[in-house]
Amino acid sequence: MMARVARREFTRYSIQRGSANAGPFLREVIFQMELNLDRAFNFAVVTMREAGELLRDYWQRGVVAEYKGEIDLVTEADRASDRLILDRIRAAYPDHAILSEESGASTRGASVQTSRYQWIVDPLDGTTNFAHGYPIFSVTIALQVDEITELGVTYDPLRAELFTARRGQGARLNDRLIHVSKTPVLDQSLLATGFPYDRRTNPDNNVRQHYALLMKSHGVVRAGSAALDLASVASGRLDGYWEYHIKAWDSAAGVLMVNEAGGCATNPAGDRLASWASNVVASNSLIHAEMLAALQSA
Ligand code: IPD
Ligand code: CA
Ligand code: CA
Repeated sequence: MMARVARREFTRYSIQRGSANAGPFLREVIFQMELNLDRAFNFAVVTMREAGELLRDYWQRGVVAEYKGEIDLVTEADRASDRLILDRIRAAYPDHAILSEESGASTRGASVQTSRYQWIVDPLDGTTNFAHGYPIFSVTIALQVDEITELGVTYDPLRAELFTARRGQGARLNDRLIHVSKTPVLDQSLLATGFPYDRRTNPDNNVRQHYALLMKSHGVVRAGSAALDLASVASGRLDGYWEYHIKAWDSAAGVLMVNEAGGCATNPAGDRLASWASNVVASNSLIHAEMLAALQSA
């Protein structure tokens, strides 16, 4: 109800002011009245660190993997991290909606139909690596307001690397501002990608595109954590990343990080992303057109 009233007032004031800047300005005012974004950001940082430490404990002890699909794994660590994060959100923001890989959309409390605020959670990004003992994984969260991502936090607990971004305020790695790379051409780039879990049966499995980009770049990493791939583009460690059929929880935080670090995140047709999409191309901007062209012609 509150959400609907706020949205209606926002639209009414924007129209009355008749100015191109009225919308964003009033949007900020309404946020500050309803939600303290500084507090939400600190909450996300503390919660990601806590979940990351929990994942590290499980990592040191070792976990048994179960199958969710033919090659899609889940472990006790995914579930424990999910419980921890959802408990914290429900305690701090009982009227916010939640979308989580392991729990789906919130079924108790708020939903996107009743709340302007939605937390998007991947409690363990890189489960296949984790289950095999390969040391690349992360935990990631984003907060959307009216479906626009306002903040994103991705934590790599094995390296104690915390990647953060706030809309309009840049992206950071452990408090240091980060920027995308300056690599000017695809030919000199290092890229990353991933492959869908149904790749054995789905011919739309990124193998052709992988081959094409491998031949046009310095290399294509398959690190196994989409959230870290996007954080790596934001921090200039990689020049570009693309993937098809990913989910909101894989990319919401990372898309904001890339945009805030001076990069570019689009769908494969080249339309800029304000939140997330299931098919994502992200880069340092300089090689973006070349990446899109190479993917489109693969
Ligand atoms: C996966 C990882 C991987 C990507 C897959 C994702 P999960 O997430 O991000 O890098 O290629 O598409 O599903 O299953 O480990 O949370
Ligand atoms: Ca994931
Ligand atoms: Ca996951």
